[in-house]
Amino acid sequence: MIPLTRPWIEDAEVAAVASVLRSGMLVQGRAVAAFEASVADRCGRPHGVAVSSGTAAIVLSLQALGVGPGDEVLVPALTWPSPAHAARCLGATVRLVDVDPLEWNVTPALLQAARTPRTKAAVVIDQFGNPLRQGFEAVELPLLEDAACALGALFGDGRPCGSLGAAACLSFHPRKVLTTGEGGVVVTDDPAFAEELRAARNHGQSAPGVFTAPGVNHRLTEMQGALGCAQIERLNEALRRRRRHAEALMDALADRLTFQASPPGAQPSYQTLGALLPASVDREEFLAACRARGVQCGRLSYGLHQVGTVPHEGALPVTERVVARGVALPLFPQMSDEQRAQVVAVVRELT
Ligand SMILES: Cc1ncc(COP(=O)(O)O)c(C=O)c1O
Repeated sequence: MIPLTRPWIEDAEVAAVASVLRSGMLVQGRAVAAFEASVADRCGRPHGVAVSSGTAAIVLSLQALGVGPGDEVLVPALTWPSPAHAARCLGATVRLVDVDPLEWNVTPALLQAARTPRTKAAVVIDQFGNPLRQGFEAVELPLLEDAACALGALFGDGRPCGSLGAAACLSFHPRKVLTTGEGGVVVTDDPAFAEELRAARNHGQSAPGVFTAPGVNHRLTEMQGALGCAQIERLNEALRRRRRHAEALMDALADRLTFQASPPGAQPSYQTLGALLPASVDREEFLAACRARGVQCGRLSYGLHQVGTVPHEGALPVTERVVARGVALPLFPQMSDEQRAQVVAVVRELT
């Protein structure tokens, strides 16, 4: 079976983790500090704060932006539930925003149209590693960039994803372009914001034994930090391979599937290669037939108004269309050209 995705782990990662295990220093030490500095650097930010997951990164960032009960947070409707759940767990209400029909991301105009006097902040997502459009600076709201899928991607003007808004959140779950097993990093330009997050991830301690707010434990382990440092050494190569496979798949299937479009000049990370099936193809039958032929495709994403945990009234037509017709194709750096050719052959046979 050609898997949808597979983390790219080499001997360097195994050696890095083993060396931490032998060192006796297992939590939040030098490896984590080096990893958070490298991630911040890739995002063009001076500060990085490592936490236990991408979701924890969003919860702690929204909290540091002052989001709480009675506030409203704008969240794109097409995504994994994390950003909406994060706002809801802080007691805020979520206003879901439909996405652009070609790029499947929110745009500055869509945010402007959705905001209300109660809007405290907006989460904007580089969905599937596809960079957001330019122009968000004009939206006068605190923005949190959810760049969970977008490490190494570039906006249309060449700036790195992760550099937009008050802070940006990354995820290092195994489906992402770089993995630490579980893990996340918040990157920001604001030293006070970074300090607040460092305390928030560590029981609310601003210095040893000094507790400034009630907090829980969202620290990252040294094993994860070392894994991340080894992974980031190969990030450019991982991105190059993803791009090569993604471009070849898109070229070979352009007459069958509708792929996510990118803004002019932008460089996606291709964390997920998403496409819409033609209306004539039943998605569930397509996925089963792919599996029967040794190719694991998947459903693409979620409409958050449909998952049952995010109240919303009204239709979100673009999100609904992408959710209903969307599939993810296999894509991972160590995929062979033969595997890619098999994906193309199977998709062409079934569409
Ligand atoms: C857009 C987006 N945001 C947030 C997350 C949450 O990341 P994590 O799984 O590390 O909590 C994900 C993970 O799938 C995601 O795709």
